[in-house]
Amino acid sequence: TYEKLWLAAAMVLIVGFIATITYGAVGPGVTMVNDDGGSIDPDAISDHERFGDTGVTHVGGDEYEVAVVAQAWSYSPGEIEVPAGSEVTFYVTSRDVTHSFSVVGTNINTMVIPGEVSQMTVEFDEPGEYGILCNEYCGQGHHNMEGKLTVV
Ligand code: CUA
Repeated sequence: TYEKLWLAAAMVLIVGFIATITYGAVGPGVTMVNDDGGSIDPDAISDHERFGDTGVTHVGGDEYEVAVVAQAWSYSPGEIEVPAGSEVTFYVTSRDVTHSFSVVGTNINTMVIPGEVSQMTVEFDEPGEYGILCNEYCGQGHHNMEGKLTVV
């Protein structure tokens, strides 16, 4: 009957909407992972293996890892420096509320959720300076939440 067809069409639409919302929140090339196999306790970040000591780690060859903690209303570290020609994997989490980690002029633009880790890998070929911004409203200091990435 037509009724069943409409029901099926509605189901397809609903699944489509959910897929769109999920895709929009996470974005292309970005995966949400919990790298310690469970959720990260936002109150115990200082003791976390990766996030207890934020910043740049050279993992070998051209590869670097950067651990970033977002909190109202700053990033730790506030300034990141990596060499040109490097492949950089960012791991970002939040200590308090939902923020974003967006590097202006690159395709890095991810939500940062307490208890979750946003991971993304980017290659930086040329030296340059990039602003880091929070695109997710996070309170009265939101517009001041920024950082700097320098490729030297
Ligand atoms: Cu953090 Cu807006």
